[in-house]
Amino acid sequence: MTPTRILCVGLVCVDIVQVCECFPDEDSDKRSVEHYMQRGGNASNMCSVLSQLGAECEFLGSMSDDLFSEFAKKDFGENNISTDNCTYHKGHDLPLSTVIINQQNGSRTIIHSNKSFPELSCQEFEKIDFSAYSWVHFEGRNIEQITGMIKFLLTWRSKSNSCLKISIEIEKPRSNQEVLIPLADVVLLGKDFALFSGCRSMVETIQKFKHNLKSGATLISVWGTEGATGYSESAGCKHSPAYLQLITVDTLGAGDTFAAALVFSLNKGNALDKSIEFACKVAGVKTGIKGFSLLK
Ligand code: FRU
Repeated sequence: MTPTRILCVGLVCVDIVQVCECFPDEDSDKRSVEHYMQRGGNASNMCSVLSQLGAECEFLGSMSDDLFSEFAKKDFGENNISTDNCTYHKGHDLPLSTVIINQQNGSRTIIHSNKSFPELSCQEFEKIDFSAYSWVHFEGRNIEQITGMIKFLLTWRSKSNSCLKISIEIEKPRSNQEVLIPLADVVLLGKDFALFSGCRSMVETIQKFKHNLKSGATLISVWGTEGATGYSESAGCKHSPAYLQLITVDTLGAGDTFAAALVFSLNKGNALDKSIEFACKVAGVKTGIKGFSLLK
């Protein structure tokens, strides 16, 4: 039987969220209107969305044995997300984000702490049996190791005649990430990365980076409230507007939601235009609700 399982490689952390009436002034002492804790990290958030969309999905990354890791592990389980191949680094603190959500516009301000938590290594990655998956998605971090992982996967794919697809999201405004672009079948470029690279729009982003793609690959520029534009040689340029909600409640992980819905749709074999539109719609729904419980 052809596998349909999606593997998301990247970060899991815990997000401590404070919802505030307005963004606080420096050195002020304010009350929030609500607080809660949720499992976070791009790859982990993507799994939350994929699972609700009905995909069989798995998270792959580093975990620990601290309280936050226990919380994350339990939450993965409760959401039907496998963590079977994760690596455990006992005694280390799982990365933690403190997030302020501004109730006036749903903006999320993230303060992320990572006390040199060990990242997944290529050696650990290579032990996995990839015949179980139809899609492997990588969060753009840990660039050197991820480059090795994708190259390993490409060799494995050609040797085993597999149809497995590889996607990567480059989101953070950091240099040296372009090396990943020619490796993947589907490349998502976030707005922060595009601006950092000197692009002022989705069209400019596509124009600048489409030449770095490998033959037959797809490039997607994601631009928050302006929607997303995709490009492939066969489909040309396809755009979808964002589906803004009447009230924007919470934008934390909206980009991860877009990425998850896009991978979900492409993994089903849907066309690029249909998949981008679907991803914009699901991301829109997410901004109108608190957290990731899209179906509740
Ligand atoms: C949202 C998110 C949060 C996490 C942060 C890490 O995209 O994954 O859940 O705290 O980004 O950068």
